[in-house]
Amino acid sequence: MRVYCAENYEAMSRRAANIISAQVITKPDSVLGLATGGTPVGAYRQLVEWYKKGDLSFAEIRSVNLDEYYGLSPWHEQSYRYFMQSNLFDHIDIRPENTHVLNGLADNAQRECERYNQLIHDLGGIDLQLLGMGHNGHIAFNEPGDDFGLETHLVTLTDRTIDANTRFFERREDVPRQALTMGIKNIMRARRILMVVSGADKAEAVYQAFCGRVTRDVPASVLQLHPDVTLVGDRDALSKLL
Ligand code: F6R
Repeated sequence: MRVYCAENYEAMSRRAANIISAQVITKPDSVLGLATGGTPVGAYRQLVEWYKKGDLSFAEIRSVNLDEYYGLSPWHEQSYRYFMQSNLFDHIDIRPENTHVLNGLADNAQRECERYNQLIHDLGGIDLQLLGMGHNGHIAFNEPGDDFGLETHLVTLTDRTIDANTRFFERREDVPRQALTMGIKNIMRARRILMVVSGADKAEAVYQAFCGRVTRDVPASVLQLHPDVTLVGDRDALSKLL
């Protein structure tokens, strides 16, 4: 595992964007696994800037997102599809048909999950998976206690995750209670993993994930078993590792 410690959020974002752009340049038709949340926003902003300068093209890139709220339409401002459009896809030359996000309005969640597993398989698997991490060590919406053997599935969100996501909604009651998410098994099959972490409030989770035991109680700890993980964090988030 490689660890890069950046001075602050901006430097962390630039470093993460560097790693993603190296992947895009060396394999222009890469399958990128993408994440939402606050942490990757700076990296996406940097990628957009480099695209606008003409340094980067996403014309052949395919993308699959980690997760989506179940019950939200793609046009809902808090849906992860909306997030991806407004933070990245609308500003670069990726083809809309090459961007994939789980359908939060699917009638049959089970069938949607199976479709997504098949899609990832048909795309040839994920070349680089970008991840953030929750305060309880969750990755995507794989919460503490979830089975490491799961592929894409429907989850019920924990109170802590609902609390953390309330900042994006007007009221706590508006936060969806369920989500569709890639499972740990999908994530672990990615050829490379890039995790981004920022802020002192993530320091304990980072420590538990990378210095503690591999346990279902800390889903991100499974990454210790992956052969190609890069962790990029700012000084605050990595403070307990240094
Ligand atoms: C989002 C996702 C989540 C976030 C995590 C951290 O697609 O998979 O697991 O990565 O909740 O979110 P932030 O970056 O907002 O702290």
